[in-house]
Amino acid sequence: MARDGAIYVCQGCGGVATKWAGQCPACGAWNSLVEELQGSRPPGALAPAKSAKARGGLSFETLDLETIAPPRLVTGIAEFDRVCGGGVVPGSAILVGGDPGVGKSTLLLQVCAAAALNGAKVAYISGEEAVEQVRARAQRMGLGHAAVKLAAETALRDIIEGLKREPFDLAVIDSIQTMWSDQLEAGPGSVTQVRAAAGELVRLAKKRGIAVVLVGHVTKDGQIAGPRVVEHMVDAVLSFEGERGYPFRILRAAKNRFGATDEIGVFEMGDSGLREVKNPSALFLNEGGERSAGAAVFAGIEGSRPVLVEFQALVAPSAYGTPRRAVVGWDSGRLAMVLAVLESRCGLSLGNRDVYLNVAGGLRITEPAADLAAAAALASSALDTPLPQDCVVFGEISLSGDVRTVGRSDARIKEAKKLGFGRALAPNGAIAGEAGFAIAPAVRLSDAIRRISEGDWG
Ligand code: TYD
Ligand code: MG
Repeated sequence: MARDGAIYVCQGCGGVATKWAGQCPACGAWNSLVEELQGSRPPGALAPAKSAKARGGLSFETLDLETIAPPRLVTGIAEFDRVCGGGVVPGSAILVGGDPGVGKSTLLLQVCAAAALNGAKVAYISGEEAVEQVRARAQRMGLGHAAVKLAAETALRDIIEGLKREPFDLAVIDSIQTMWSDQLEAGPGSVTQVRAAAGELVRLAKKRGIAVVLVGHVTKDGQIAGPRVVEHMVDAVLSFEGERGYPFRILRAAKNRFGATDEIGVFEMGDSGLREVKNPSALFLNEGGERSAGAAVFAGIEGSRPVLVEFQALVAPSAYGTPRRAVVGWDSGRLAMVLAVLESRCGLSLGNRDVYLNVAGGLRITEPAADLAAAAALASSALDTPLPQDCVVFGEISLSGDVRTVGRSDARIKEAKKLGFGRALAPNGAIAGEAGFAIAPAVRLSDAIRRISEGDWG
């Protein structure tokens, strides 16, 4: 039986049940329901301060008044600022999620130092490391002289008090999972605590005009643990990603009330912290020498920037009854679709062969425009025929085997040209081509395959 006023909150998904159960009815997780006392307003919700009548009633506004762009605090880490939409907005709250060890603390310490050097008043509060540790790291990165105020604290009440004491512009809370409020019974790291702490900090941000950055560790399934309930409270959700074994780190906006969500920032982790990568194309191309059979350079767009990245495919005889399909950096469902179209529309039989597809550099591509690059890499490997060294590829493939045009062809081609490429395997009518740059058009996927097998590049 539920006690009066008690509800049960799933620590995994934040789902609410009125009575305890061994399994969360919302997400199916076992033993994840924890009792919580009801009656408190959800954190982040507006306080029902006075009734509308007492304030003189609801007043309506029109849409056509002049808007004022929110002022921005430009931190000076350009890759971070761009993903935020051109700097952080005072009074906003940003959640930065990522796997443990990916480099969130490093990134935000660098952001803090850069903002402080730009004249902002900055606080960095760590609930995971001692002040000495943070300081040592900052000094190792050559940031020891930045006027960042450091504190190691997990008690929410002390943090709020501390942040109220001085007019801070930017405050980083690392991490939200370590913060706890003594007004709640739930243990630190529980959904209840995370939600309450985030709610308080978001309210403080709005009230004081401080830009608050909350760091959150993600769980294995890619959800920010507990902080799923935080996502709707904050103005922006950024995720910091990196493939194991690669030094590259990508900051992506999953939600942003003050900017575009498809923007990425690229960094490289080195001995002295993260280095901004201004030209990601050079990074994701397999450097050094010839491109062999099975490689195709995709001219992609990430956010507002064109990025060239190499697709690598290997089609090999299968040793087992069921052929293997392995893909890194691209969607496996999309791979299955491209394989099916190659098989049924182009007569390229891959059904009984192992297929491996890899996006170089640890980047994850989600654009449909990559279809043709993946297909070209697969066909090139299956036919054991390399593409021309100076060729980039882009285009979407439909189930009927047509190659569809994609957006921003000119930007793709411009970037390719800049990096020394001279031709593109692209949808018909993508662009007329420029001086010194040839387009090998493909109306159907079979045209592209024929070009590869016959070496017909016009
Ligand atoms: P960290 O920022 O502590 O990760 P998170 O806060 O996301 O858990 O980064 C830790 C990793 O970064 C660690 O494995 C070491 C590496 N690192 C470097 O390679 N170079 C550096 O200069 C720093 C500071 C960290
Ligand atoms: Mg950390």
